[in-house]
Amino acid sequence: MIIQFCGLSGAGKTTLAHAVKAKLCKHRLHVEIIDGDEYRETLCKGLGFSKNDRYENIRRMAFVAGKLSQHGIISIICAINPYDHIRKEIRVTYRHVLTVHIDCSIQVLQQRDTKGLYRRAMLPDGHPEKISNLTGINDPFEVPDDPDLHINTEGSSPEVCSVKVAEFILQHIFHTRVIQLEFGSMSGRKASSL
Ligand code: ADX
Repeated sequence: MIIQFCGLSGAGKTTLAHAVKAKLCKHRLHVEIIDGDEYRETLCKGLGFSKNDRYENIRRMAFVAGKLSQHGIISIICAINPYDHIRKEIRVTYRHVLTVHIDCSIQVLQQRDTKGLYRRAMLPDGHPEKISNLTGINDPFEVPDDPDLHINTEGSSPEVCSVKVAEFILQHIFHTRVIQLEFGSMSGRKASSL
């Protein structure tokens, strides 16, 4: 199973992913977090923030997620993942993909600004520290119109949000296993890995 998070920088994707992983591990599930910040230092090193580079970034992360999920590892792609086109591509390319929108308003993100990116994006043009393509400020974020789950991190604690995401994943695993058992027994096929 692949969980593709999407949401603006600072919305809480990494925090939630780790909290969700801890909860799922208690159910003896195996979880891997495929985090944009980490992958941009390694497998995706050299990619920038143009539309094409962001596509490529997500494609590489999804490739790893696809391989892991074949072995029953729940793979959480933890990236801004701002474009509808690539999110849809991931959904049709791999099996059991769920899209979770980790949402938070720009106003709150600007107040949190843990990495100082929003401050830098608001600097005047020509300033040496200016960021000119920060998602949500001067680069697009296409809000998913039909995510499998929408989480707003503004009004709820990370604990409350992570319980919702973990329960959602558990429900989906349960539902998929029931379907596989029914169809597997009818057709004699072996249930495939999630
Ligand atoms: S994505 O758009 O390709 O999905 P990804 O999640 O991998 O992005 O990387 C986003 C991280 O890169 C942010 O959390 C932030 O730390 C850093 N970053 C640096 N510059 C930018 C930018 N212009 N837009 C977005 N994120 C940026």
